[in-house]
Amino acid sequence: MIDLASPLTNKNKFLVFGGGFSGGYFAKSIRKLGCIALTSSRSSHGEPNNFIFNSEDNSIPKDSIFEGVTHILSCIPPDKHGNDPVLKSLGSIIKKLSLKWVGYLSTTGVYGNTYGDWVSEKDQPNPFQERSQRRLNCEQEWINSNLPIQIFRLPGIYGPGRSTLEAINSKKIKVIHKENQVFSRIHVADIANAIIYLIQNKNHIDFHQIINIADDEPCSQIQVIKYGYQLLGLKMPKQILFEDAKKDLSPIAQSFWIENRRVSNKLLCEKLGYKLIYKNYKLGLDNCFLNIK
Ligand SMILES: NC(=O)c1ccc[n+]([C@@H]2O[C@H](COP(=O)([O-])OP(=O)(O)OC[C@H]3O[C@@H](n4cnc5c(N)ncnc54)[C@H](OP(=O)(O)O)[C@@H]3O)[C@@H](O)[C@H]2O)c1
Repeated sequence: MIDLASPLTNKNKFLVFGGGFSGGYFAKSIRKLGCIALTSSRSSHGEPNNFIFNSEDNSIPKDSIFEGVTHILSCIPPDKHGNDPVLKSLGSIIKKLSLKWVGYLSTTGVYGNTYGDWVSEKDQPNPFQERSQRRLNCEQEWINSNLPIQIFRLPGIYGPGRSTLEAINSKKIKVIHKENQVFSRIHVADIANAIIYLIQNKNHIDFHQIINIADDEPCSQIQVIKYGYQLLGLKMPKQILFEDAKKDLSPIAQSFWIENRRVSNKLLCEKLGYKLIYKNYKLGLDNCFLNIK
């Protein structure tokens, strides 16, 4: 349901810090509603809607970029010290703007390992990895900023151009099996759509500062890979047991297999009424397959 009292129009100007996979998708979606959306990147794309921001070398956007901004979405990960790059470099500028809404893309890694149990926003974060502790610090910085902030905790993000299908085609995939291991995931279109739904309806649904955006069906990696091979009409190679595959995985790849949790979307999908476009990996991969053909 759209809130007619606060429709998004061309009077709304969004700055998307970190116009990568999710940020770029969000910007395209919000432009379709008539809004202005500028995205940042660390080097020039030569595109009119793009501006340069790099917290590492202090490349700061010029003043005109901030003129008339009503909404901000940050999709930039923490820096190596656990500081938020946007708040660190631009906090003093952003805090002076008349902002209606600010969003921050975080990760469900902040919940740590639940050994396969469900986690919801009511659970205390319990970061297990250093990068998740850095992420939790950034969430806290945004909360302390006193901006009208909403934080979205995301599991593995996939979508057209970045999915199991590309991994199979580029032969980068490893068919690894680990007993009872599940992953949660989310299609990039549902990240954009859920955020737009929350902004459009913010006057008549409860405001929650922290919201998980995940699909309905956490499942094993093998199920997703199997379906990917099926869609591509290819034969899946033999599975390797995690214990045998581990030694050939990078430390970062190994770290993803250490944690095991199911991320609940009940707050978003039941309490707040958002309807997922892609409820599970099969529907999501069917969509990604359209991009491959
Ligand atoms: N990928 C996942 O599965 C996943 C899961 C959960 C949460 N997340 C988090 O959700 C957010 C969005 O994820 P994504 O996969 O869509 O991200 P992405 O495609 O990797 O994009 C990240 C963006 O941040 C920018 N960036 C990185 N460091 C920066 C810095 N120091 N200064 C300025 N800009 C910087 C990048 O600039 P360039 O365009 O110049 O590269 C890029 O536009 C990220 O915070 C990510 O960590 C990701």
